Amino acid sequence: MSGVRLERRGSVALVTLDRPERMNALSRALVSRFGEIGRELAGLEDVRLVVVTGAGDKAFCAGADLKERASMSPDEVRALLVAYETELGWLETIAVPTLAAINGAALGGGLELALLCDLRIAAHHAVLGLPETSLGVIPGAGGTQRLPRLLGEARAKELILRAARLSAPAALILGLVNQVLPKSDDFVREVLSWAEPILSGAPLAIRAALQALRGATQRDLRQGLMLERAAYERCLESQDRLEALAAFAEKRKPVFRGV
Ligand code: COA
Repeated sequence: MSGVRLERRGSVALVTLDRPERMNALSRALVSRFGEIGRELAGLEDVRLVVVTGAGDKAFCAGADLKERASMSPDEVRALLVAYETELGWLETIAVPTLAAINGAALGGGLELALLCDLRIAAHHAVLGLPETSLGVIPGAGGTQRLPRLLGEARAKELILRAARLSAPAALILGLVNQVLPKSDDFVREVLSWAEPILSGAPLAIRAALQALRGATQRDLRQGLMLERAAYERCLESQDRLEALAAFAEKRKPVFRGV
């Protein structure tokens, strides 16, 4: 059992970590299958959004599989740290937005997985944190680098050095998650309702905006403005742009076709 499954909900690719008995922890098999899924999705033109979530309502992902980890040698752990990068990294390079639907605890590698996504929505009962220093290690799937980029260095130091566990509302105040939604029997449905503007937006424009936005704060402003211009250019010749202008004139909703 790889512990992760892929299903389609229309134009959404839903990736579910599915090891509820271990709080959807990141086993080696899961990480490897996650990478395969990324490669499967990379070439699909009809996918508009990737949502990552966890099975059940207790955990999004409790991070490293601490039971598996107990019998791993240092070299095996080193190899897994490399696999985190190669097999999970597609979440921040795939052409469409990625969204972590944090249906429960997102701890350690679980939060790091969510940090790879463009957007994070948490259920009200979710708990989030990078508690690795309390386990004798440090975040090993990008947490020490991505958390400061998102929240600023001081907040990231506070959360990582104190091994803090945040409630979803506290995470919202810090900007760690984009939104908090009530607990629900179908949390993904609620998340997709939040994400509806992404799904109904012009697909080429969503991709272009995303490309310009990703990493914008790390870029020199002039370079960023050039990248924005290049991304705009890809929308300029699109039929969807003309459709939007026609729809505005005709006072109707545009019908985008992604061309
Ligand atoms: N790896 C492997 N198994 C895990 C796990 C992990 N990271 N986290 C939880 N589990 C297992 C528990 O051992 C338990 O299995 P058991 O009943 O066979 O012992 C089962 O999942 C349920 O966990 P439990 O702690 O009883 O559930 P809970 O609802 O009270 O708490 C968590 C859920 C996620 C808050 C809690 O399990 C937790 O804090 N886990 C550790 C998370 C962590 O520190 N991750 C960082 C790794 S670097």
